[in-house]
Amino acid sequence: MANNTNSLIPVLITSPEGKATQLLHLSPADHTPIAALDVRPSLLFTQEDNPGQINDELLDFSIEAIREARKIDLSEISARIDPSMTKTPNTWPGQHYKLLAAMIKNRQPKLVIEIGTASGYSCLSLKKSLPADGKIVTFDIIPWQQYPNVVLTEEDFADGRLKQQIADLTQPHVFNSFKKLLSQADFIFVDAAKDGVMEKTFLNFFESIPFQKPLFIFFDDIRLWNMLEIWREIKRPKIDLTSFGSWSGSGLIHWIP
Ligand SMILES: C[S@@+](CC[C@H](N)C(=O)[O-])C[C@H]1O[C@@H](n2cnc3c(N)ncnc32)[C@H](O)[C@@H]1O
Repeated sequence: MANNTNSLIPVLITSPEGKATQLLHLSPADHTPIAALDVRPSLLFTQEDNPGQINDELLDFSIEAIREARKIDLSEISARIDPSMTKTPNTWPGQHYKLLAAMIKNRQPKLVIEIGTASGYSCLSLKKSLPADGKIVTFDIIPWQQYPNVVLTEEDFADGRLKQQIADLTQPHVFNSFKKLLSQADFIFVDAAKDGVMEKTFLNFFESIPFQKPLFIFFDDIRLWNMLEIWREIKRPKIDLTSFGSWSGSGLIHWIP
């Protein structure tokens, strides 16, 4: 989920040779020529010199997930949402929820980790096609019962396949206490603060985990200003799936231990 910002954004325009030509201060709220429910500034940059290149596993997994996403129906989750909210998990492409559900359907993971439960749209989407012997552990610093406009109910947790952990994973001692659990993950969905620091902290911590097998790590909002550099700097195989995920950016890493 993206958060609103109205601050002026300094943008250095460079020539194709990398020479600075102009410094602009853009205000997305005042000067955007585009009218939409939500408008954000972002940047475009070349793929040839991207430090993390696409691999065959990412292409195969993504193509199959896109194919599957067309068939996924999340109207049961959308129906739980107050009609005054414009965002619905059943919107696809444009939202990433069907793509997440499709990835889970195809991968049949035993353990899914989510960082950022919030009101529960994504953990319900992840649970939609979770295998009978699969589990989701979703982390947040706010208990789901206290989250505004929450769509989760006690019943969603009743079969024991969905569990929430209240923990701030940016704290090294907290992160370390969950290292063993995280090392068993088949799929991780990261959707936390996007403050320009937190997601980088998680990536650094992930480097210290002895993952038991290759896994996919999905990052939300990679096209938002605060996420551009963090996403760009990832040196592991990765793919930008924004056109088939969330309008604010969907990125997938193939994490090979
Ligand atoms: C954008 S929302 C998540 C939206 C949710 N994944 C969805 O699609 O429905 C971000 C969430 O990250 C949580 N968060 C912030 N800092 C965190 C941290 N250090 N560890 C875990 N969760 C955190 C926030 O409390 C908030 O609920």
